[in-house]
Amino acid sequence: MNSRETLKINGKGHLEIGGCDAVDLAKDFGTPLYVFDEKYIRDMMRVYRDTIAEEYNGNGLVLYASKAFSCMAIYRIASQENIGVDVVSGGELYTAVKAGFPTEKIYMHGNNKLLRELEFAVDAKVGTIVVDSYDEADILDMLAGKAGIRQNVLIRINPGVEAHTHAFVQTARTDSKFGFSISDGTAERMTGYILKKEHLNLKGYHCHIGSQIFEKQSFVLAAQKAMDFMAKIKADLGFEADTLNIGGGFGIWYTDEDAKISVDGYAEYLKALIGAVKQRAAELSLKLPYLIIEPGRSIVGEAGVTLYTVGAIKDIPGVKKYVAIDGGMFDNPRYALYQSKYTVLLANRANEKCTEKVTIAGKCCESGDLIAVDVPLPKAERGDIAAVLSTGAYNYSMASNYNRNFIPAAVLVNNGKAEYIVKPQTYDDLIRNDVLPDYLK
Ligand code: LLP
Repeated sequence: MNSRETLKINGKGHLEIGGCDAVDLAKDFGTPLYVFDEKYIRDMMRVYRDTIAEEYNGNGLVLYASKAFSCMAIYRIASQENIGVDVVSGGELYTAVKAGFPTEKIYMHGNNKLLRELEFAVDAKVGTIVVDSYDEADILDMLAGKAGIRQNVLIRINPGVEAHTHAFVQTARTDSKFGFSISDGTAERMTGYILKKEHLNLKGYHCHIGSQIFEKQSFVLAAQKAMDFMAKIKADLGFEADTLNIGGGFGIWYTDEDAKISVDGYAEYLKALIGAVKQRAAELSLKLPYLIIEPGRSIVGEAGVTLYTVGAIKDIPGVKKYVAIDGGMFDNPRYALYQSKYTVLLANRANEKCTEKVTIAGKCCESGDLIAVDVPLPKAERGDIAAVLSTGAYNYSMASNYNRNFIPAAVLVNNGKAEYIVKPQTYDDLIRNDVLPDYLK
């Protein structure tokens, strides 16, 4: 099991998170329930922030990639921890603004930002917008002109490094809906285009090579390639970029097939990156760029546990044993989408030996609605509390009301206290936007 101080098995043999007994949480708040460990989230934000402060003279910024988990409380925590955030939609921006997040520390992404989203961003004085198409540059230039400002922008580039969980490859692949490729010259052309825009202030470049990546070398390589490109731009166009945003992507522990990195261990990723940036800058006679990283998953992923109540159990001899829970793909679609793996335990019998392999099934009317396949568990019974670990990232943020199930509530736990950060939905929430036109009445 994941080993850290705020996630453990207590004297009653129950799972405990942030000092709260998971069985009590299930009783007090109901299931399914997303539980978020505040200390873990803050510790992760701090380790990145402090590493930039200590190893890079504070010449950079950590952005929390809020697509991993977006709600007002998380923006408030990020703001208290003095980091920035990245948003990818009007909805994420609205949530950040409503939480009082300082908008100059917001970076906005998206390969197809809508006109209303760009208008909102300029209106809200979003610090930096990461431009990802020619017509977006035109629209943004026009909007900034109307607002009487010069909007800070980065260009999203494609460095030709593609990373996967256990490997990375260098590729000249230009087939991506994101960014402008370095190798085919489009990134350079886009740079020239933006530099001519009166109301856009080009600060530098952004890239993001993938997610759930464990190899430090893939980040190092992306940074080196981006800096080689910056040197070429300096030589060709006389423009020396200020900023390099290297994106997110650091991997987390889901099962024992993954590396288990301690909170402090994540500093090593950043140190490797910083080392490479310093070295390349010296080699290329470039000034040290303002360095940005955008971790999402690694900040909230392992901070989250989802609690469910076990219901129907179906044993198909010689085939499979299904243990159904009161959630499913509507609160965690990641198995259905990516065949993701998770570690599951029984929170009320967390000390018991696993005696069988079962498949955790959701309650949706769909055979592929599974949470984890063939996972070891003690013999589960109706009423047990199942805990799925490492569900803090891309679970709530990708949840839906499929089958008109409720998106579960979320609580923040710390020092034995639990508070709602997302309230439970009600049946009325589900029909809130439904309309019966007159002729159907
Ligand atoms: N920056 C950009 C531009 C991104 O596209 C992403 C993630 C991040 C930062 C944060 O990456 P992270 O540190 O979280 O790996 N739904 C998928 C993950 C999609 C990631 C999309 N972009 C999943 O559930 O695995």
